[in-house]
Amino acid sequence: MSSPNESLPWRLEWSDELSVHLPEIDAEHQRFVRLVNELNEVIVARAGVEEVKARMRLLQEDAEAHFAHEEALFRQWHYPDAEAHAQKHEQALRFLAEVMAGFSQEKTGYEWIETALKVKQVLIEHIMLEDMKYRDFYLASQGSAADA
Ligand SMILES: [Fe+2]
Ligand SMILES: [Fe+2]
Repeated sequence: MSSPNESLPWRLEWSDELSVHLPEIDAEHQRFVRLVNELNEVIVARAGVEEVKARMRLLQEDAEAHFAHEEALFRQWHYPDAEAHAQKHEQALRFLAEVMAGFSQEKTGYEWIETALKVKQVLIEHIMLEDMKYRDFYLASQGSAADA
């Protein structure tokens, strides 16, 4: 891991690599990226714990709504991996809840940076590893619908 310098060491930028080719979902993922960046910013600015928790709560609420949205689409598509994917959502939400619980204890600035990095990693890895699977399924289904 890189040293915790005081600039914005892990600012995320949206890129096409992250696109699932569904505008409504991309918009929600872009919002995640923004919320993760804002969480980073308040931590780097050494905001108080309440401010950090407020940002985390936003992320948590967003993740919950977003995951429910994806799962509704899966039902619509009859996506075969819906169950496994929903379990990954469950895990991510559990992780965010644990982070929130941890914030009630005293933490050093460095520990916050580490925690926020983990939050970023969990959310972005989920998009890049799990959400890309349904992207491929969705795109393939669109292709076969066009062929029919
Ligand atoms: Fe997603
Ligand atoms: Fe997902």
